[in-house]
Amino acid sequence: MEDAVSGTTVDVSVQVVRVGLLGYGGVGQAVARVATSASGRLGDAGILVKCIGALARDLGKPRVGPDIPLYTDPDDFPFTDCDIIVEVLGGIEPARSLAARALRLGIPVVTANKSLVAAHGLDLQALARQHNTSLYFEAAVMAGVPCVNTLARRPLASGAGSFAGILNGTSHFILSRIARGETFDAALVEAVERGYAEPSSDADVSGRDAAEKLTILLHLAGHADVVVRDLPTRGIDDLAPWHAALAGRLSGVIKPVALATFGGADAGAWVGPAFVPTAHPFAALDDVANVLQVGVGGNAVTFTGPGAGREVTAATIIDDLVEVASGQRLASRRPVGPPIAKALRQIPQGAWFLALDRVATSVGDLAEFLAARHLPAVFVASDHDRCAVITAEAPVSALTDAVDALEATGVHVTWLPVLPVATAGREVSRG
Ligand SMILES: NC(=O)c1ccc[n+]([C@@H]2O[C@H](COP(=O)([O-])OP(=O)(O)OC[C@H]3O[C@@H](n4cnc5c(N)ncnc54)[C@H](OP(=O)(O)O)[C@@H]3O)[C@@H](O)[C@H]2O)c1
Repeated sequence: MEDAVSGTTVDVSVQVVRVGLLGYGGVGQAVARVATSASGRLGDAGILVKCIGALARDLGKPRVGPDIPLYTDPDDFPFTDCDIIVEVLGGIEPARSLAARALRLGIPVVTANKSLVAAHGLDLQALARQHNTSLYFEAAVMAGVPCVNTLARRPLASGAGSFAGILNGTSHFILSRIARGETFDAALVEAVERGYAEPSSDADVSGRDAAEKLTILLHLAGHADVVVRDLPTRGIDDLAPWHAALAGRLSGVIKPVALATFGGADAGAWVGPAFVPTAHPFAALDDVANVLQVGVGGNAVTFTGPGAGREVTAATIIDDLVEVASGQRLASRRPVGPPIAKALRQIPQGAWFLALDRVATSVGDLAEFLAARHLPAVFVASDHDRCAVITAEAPVSALTDAVDALEATGVHVTWLPVLPVATAGREVSRG
């Protein structure tokens, strides 16, 4: 039998899945393209994905995706003709209310929207349970690396007490370029030219995108009380090649990390640039690579792979569609972990990397100055009136006291946490 939409020959045993796309931008059009280009492999899995319509704002906009019916008014959108809704609008509204509308109709929803899942994923999952359907969001966190559904199905793995990762490929690319001597602005332009960043890449550069992804992971670990703004977050736009060069002389690289430890007394979080010692496995990753380490030491599990573009994101969405269509119901677990939000509002105690500009004293005097403020220097590298220090482990209060005192003398300080290097079964800080 020949399918009228795709022109492909359809095995009658193949299940036709009618998909409604909320959003027909970069990812929405890629989903429709991949549904056609991968129809052979999808057919082998017993599924034919038919995109029956898409919601968009501007009917006059040029589109590169297949020509499917477009709707601008959600009230005209044929929800009840859809077996599955794919939400790729971005942002919170109208994405939240339209996803909720589909779930109330008992229609499963697949989304790539991390802002939506971080802010309302738990409510939407509860709504899905109530209406005997499901919400899938593998593409919302490291779309190129299948970790979300794995963690969702494994409460013991996701509750390992710590997440550490590089969750944003755009900021990773920019810092990798800065490490090669490019300015922040030039690296951002290159990221846009290569299609890794949108011209308005504030969410990537400010750390908000990574904070949303880390929040989603913490929800998967059962900690429903965490909201994005709990996580101490800093952007990467004040970093320059000289910071990277001095980090290199102290045997490290600067990477955009997302870190949360929540299993014990040293709970805390950080989303932003960090000094990563070259002995740490993240140091060897470059460009747009993503990584997530769950747990620490010998029990850690690491997921790693390429940062996602539109096509990879679309393929991940379609893999979710296949799971839904084949009757799998992702266990949307009720949150079971204790509240940890308050503990995550602090940066974990550890060693610190300080990059100092306009230093007028000798390295010896600087070391004395820091030691007197309970922030002993362990390694120092200097270059004219700039220098960098790795300190011993110290609480954040010692760091901020020392930074304030240095800045009062006219020195400009950029500080970063040092990512601990884990050895079998325990954490060892580089300091
Ligand atoms: N781009 C990636 O590589 C990537 C990777 C992983 C996850 N994601 C996530 O996927 C989602 C979509 O990203 P994208 O890059 O495809 O975004 P995009 O290109 O901006 O597309 C958004 C689409 O939604 C439509 N839209 C937005 N607001 C609307 C409204 N109020 N009413 C009707 N239509 C509306 C837009 O319509 P018009 O076309 O008419 O403007 C557009 O078709 C986001 O949540 C993003 O975080 C993207």
